[in-house]
Amino acid sequence: MEKLDNVIEMTHPLIQHKISLLRDKNTGTNEFRAIVEEIAMLMGYEALSDLPLEDTEVETPIEKCMTPVIAGRKFAVVPILRAGLGMVSGILALVPAAKVGHIGLYRDEETHEPHEYYCKLPNPIDERLIVVTDPMLATGGSAVAAVNFIKEHGGKKIKFMSIIAAPEGIRRLHEAHPDVQLYVGHIDRELNADAYICPGLGDAGDRIFGTK
Ligand code: PRP
Ligand code: URA
Repeated sequence: MEKLDNVIEMTHPLIQHKISLLRDKNTGTNEFRAIVEEIAMLMGYEALSDLPLEDTEVETPIEKCMTPVIAGRKFAVVPILRAGLGMVSGILALVPAAKVGHIGLYRDEETHEPHEYYCKLPNPIDERLIVVTDPMLATGGSAVAAVNFIKEHGGKKIKFMSIIAAPEGIRRLHEAHPDVQLYVGHIDRELNADAYICPGLGDAGDRIFGTK
């Protein structure tokens, strides 16, 4: 697809290898869940490269010094339920003190439009970097709705992290929210008639939670 300046596609071989494992329909729930977590951690390393720091005093065995630590109250992760939950532990492994919000959305099977059933965000949210997680960006309807909620609650600096994205979803998110930086593990070919990503990995929520 065309290059968009707010879209960063991961090229790291570890991420590409792990995505191939996720795609395999023979990968079972345990392994699938663990790999989603690992990919989220690797992608988080990239997406959090501009986390704000502040200096703090530490006494080394040699002497006192001022040294940088991640600034407090500056970051939150917001998974889109259900599947985005699978990525949270990978991000928390990097920033254990992060606040966690939740946005519950499900896609209507016929219209493919998102429906909200839950929203709870950290308060205040306006000064935080917010990373929204969802392994799948398909039509982009859920992503746009989630970012709308966060902005309505005052969120300003928002990044979106998805493991697999369709060009259709990337364009829709970009058009609605060009200010949102999007980190994508892999950009796949297209959506099928049921709005599933091809080749994709199937239904991410069902594969993470072992449902269906
Ligand atoms: C999946 C996925 C995304 C959404 C992507 O969730 O986790 O949230 O679909 O599709 P979109 O880009 O077309 O909106 P789903 O609605 O299947 O809910 P679930 O995670 O609870 O299974
Ligand atoms: N949601 C999924 O879980 N998979 C897709 O391919 C599309 C939406």
